[in-house]
Amino acid sequence: MKVVVTGGAGYIGSHTIIDIVESTNWEIVSIDSYINSTPDTYRRIKEVTGKEIEHYKVDLCDKNALKNVFNEIGAIAGVIHFAALKAVGDSVENPLLYYQNNITGLLNILECCANYNIPNLIFSSSCSIYGNVDVLPVDETTPLAKSESPYAATKAIGEEILKDFSKVSNTNLIALRYFNPVGAHSSGLIGENPINKPSNLFPVITQTAVGIIEEMQVFGADYKTRDGSCIRDYIHVSDIANAHILALKYAVEQGKLENLEFYNLGSGNGVSVLEAISTFEDLSNIKLNYKLSARRPGDVESIYSNSKKAKSQLDWETKFALTDMMSSAWNWQQQLEKEKNEQS
Ligand code: NAD
Ligand code: WQD
Repeated sequence: MKVVVTGGAGYIGSHTIIDIVESTNWEIVSIDSYINSTPDTYRRIKEVTGKEIEHYKVDLCDKNALKNVFNEIGAIAGVIHFAALKAVGDSVENPLLYYQNNITGLLNILECCANYNIPNLIFSSSCSIYGNVDVLPVDETTPLAKSESPYAATKAIGEEILKDFSKVSNTNLIALRYFNPVGAHSSGLIGENPINKPSNLFPVITQTAVGIIEEMQVFGADYKTRDGSCIRDYIHVSDIANAHILALKYAVEQGKLENLEFYNLGSGNGVSVLEAISTFEDLSNIKLNYKLSARRPGDVESIYSNSKKAKSQLDWETKFALTDMMSSAWNWQQQLEKEKNEQS
């Protein structure tokens, strides 16, 4: 079957394409504007899998260009829709860009689903839609609090759009709510390679270890947590990738889903910032240069997932532990350094 992956040159999209190539016989077509990636990702995917990926450079907000691609591709069994802007801080500074890109992109893809009779769509949602929660862990019945950023709002609104569309559409719609995807493919040949400066903890840790960042900050050491730093649910990107295959298989098997289905994808383990740092220090034998700093605006104190629904309905199991996440992220950082040195 033919599957369209939007945002296939990005971090999670590329790992999902690799898993699809390695574990299914599906044909992939990637659509990306390269607003936060480069087509070099396809070279890396080929290095890992040996497979050339069919790809188009299209901005999903350009409806006509998108239609042209769908006209060319022919019958499609499913769309996995990753393409979106994702930096929380950036979204606070550029709210219109985020609403425009993420909402218009989604609307145009849904219009294609309707016009081209596409039976299944998987949407990248986010734990950020839960906002500040009172009860942990969060599951799919936890009420959504106010979105803390325009980025989070694009995901919450995205799910609302999907809910309404599911009532009138022939397309099965599934939203996967990722917690904190981290790490890199076990080959060490591909990982997160954003154009923009990273603000997420794992790349900040590995960039500090190689000296790109001189001194990293731990944002807040006075939270009411076991060591004062924030707690998150880190989840290996390859575990996230695999959930898309299972979700698409589930949607195909179910025939027609009545409503939007949504699933948390987290490990269920809450890990503090200081625990993440010491896990890295232990496995790399590198002392990180960090200081305890003020809280980062917009951060929630603690969040971690109950992902039992994905386990029971999709048969999704996490395969990777925190040490795998950290060591694969570290391998990838070292690979990037090696490539940089070879080029200079
Ligand atoms: P990423 O930035 O690495 O990948 C997104 C890809 O989409 C990029 O290649 C970018 O160029 C492309 N893109 C963005 N807007 C586009 C547009 N209008 N048209 C065509 N291509 C466009 O991000 P990622 O980490 O791989 O995230 C993938 C999805 O998962 C996003 O929807 C993101 O919001 C969501 N998500 C990510 C995280 C995370 O922490 N990485 C957590 C929860 C949800
Ligand atoms: C993790 C923890 C920071 C950097 C975001 C989005 C969420 C999802 C995942 C998209 C926090 C601390 C970080 C640093 C630090 N993305 N930290 N020093 O904010 O939990 O989640 O990415 O959907 O929606 O909100 O992830 O990796 O930025 O931060 O102390 O230099 O690490 O304060 O406690 P976050 P993160």
